[in-house]
Amino acid sequence: MKSITSLSSDFLVIRGGRRLRGRVKVSGSKNASLPILIASLLTEEPCIVKRVPNLLDVKTTFELLNTLGAQVHFEEGKAFVHAQALNSYLAPDHIVRRMRASILVAGPLLARFGRAVVGMPGGCSIGARLIDQHLKVFERGGAIINVKEGYLHMEVQKIKPVEYTFEVITVTGTENALMFLSRCPKRSVLRNVALEPEVMDLVEVLRKMGVEIEVEGRTMVIRGREDLAGFEHEVIPDRIEAGTLAVAGFLTGGEVLLEGVRIDHMGAQIEKLKEAGAKVEILGIDRVKVCGDGRPEPLEISTAEYPGFPTDMQAQFMVLCTVAKGISHITENIFENRFQHVNELQRMGANISLRGRTAIVHGVERLSGAEVFSTDLRASASLVLAGLIAEGTTTVRDIYHLDRGYEGLEEKLNQLGADIERVKDANTAG
Ligand code: EPZ
Repeated sequence: MKSITSLSSDFLVIRGGRRLRGRVKVSGSKNASLPILIASLLTEEPCIVKRVPNLLDVKTTFELLNTLGAQVHFEEGKAFVHAQALNSYLAPDHIVRRMRASILVAGPLLARFGRAVVGMPGGCSIGARLIDQHLKVFERGGAIINVKEGYLHMEVQKIKPVEYTFEVITVTGTENALMFLSRCPKRSVLRNVALEPEVMDLVEVLRKMGVEIEVEGRTMVIRGREDLAGFEHEVIPDRIEAGTLAVAGFLTGGEVLLEGVRIDHMGAQIEKLKEAGAKVEILGIDRVKVCGDGRPEPLEISTAEYPGFPTDMQAQFMVLCTVAKGISHITENIFENRFQHVNELQRMGANISLRGRTAIVHGVERLSGAEVFSTDLRASASLVLAGLIAEGTTTVRDIYHLDRGYEGLEEKLNQLGADIERVKDANTAG
């Protein structure tokens, strides 16, 4: 597997003002694919994961699995992973730095081999991104953890059953704990767990592998097994890609039919779209049509753990608020620094001020095109949305951030009538 070393600085040129119309199929979930692909480390048997989106973080995960010695094959959205004989328990720094979610290999490696050496995942631009909760569960299970030269060295003889109440509701913390305990035959109890659909998709997979998991509110009771089976699983649709496309349809005054979604995963977003004045027609559990005309109504948004309003949709809905008929307030409760898109939106004429964790957005008639820079995955998506409705042309730079988490977003938008050109970075054009 070719290592992805140089991140291309391709950029997008977006000519705004076009209504989006038509239908688009939503891809499989990035944040469900990553832990599920990594769960294949727990078994000597082959695993098949379907509807895996072809994006940078998935390719990085394949590279990581390869580095550990697993065989990986990926074609047309179907990944074959066979971790029959691993020959390493080291997750190298250069991979972890590229994708923090690499920390998810710690749980499976400890469960299977009793050893894991993982580069310390640094923070990222949206916040400190701590992993103290992951480590506390490992220590409760008997692991010894030392930090040496920027690496976490973890060892455990025999994993003990764990009773732990998370101090913070953490998505990958819950996922790491589940995989860590998946081969421990005794009864463990995790409280205050995350219940995101992506976590529950991993629970489905672990159950297929032979792990007993009961979920009662935010409490999970786990009974693992030494000999876990391989699995075949189709990941859930990406509710954040779906939400991003829905906002695009509404904001451009268009009419977009999203196919292959899970409506039951999008409740909080759909409520806010309706409040903003979108016409939302639910045509079944997997199809929803979103239409818009005229300026949105202002919104009060406060991000929260699922089923609350998703932090991964905060930047996209902020674009909607920048052209609303009034003043909106957006409070980011999950990450401490997830307003990097604000500066870039201001360059496009948005009127936003920050008070601690709250952005106060005074809606303006129209944004105007500008050259803007992506700072993180969802910020880059918000800049694309802003470009779709801005007067004139918008150039969105550093879209490797976008490519980390979206499978061909500009192609999907162009298929709906947008005018977006990807300009390849001369140095890395393949
Ligand atoms: C997952 O990140 C997602 N990534 C993120 O999506 C998402 O924004 C986030 O959950 C919240 O929903 C993946 O699933 C790969 P957390 P994760 O642990 O697990 C604090 C995207 O755009 N915390 O739930 O890293 C932490 O600092 C990405 O697709 C601790 O204090 O998020 C943060 O403030 C961005 N100690 C909060 O909890 C810990 O041990 C939520 O973090 C763990 C987390």
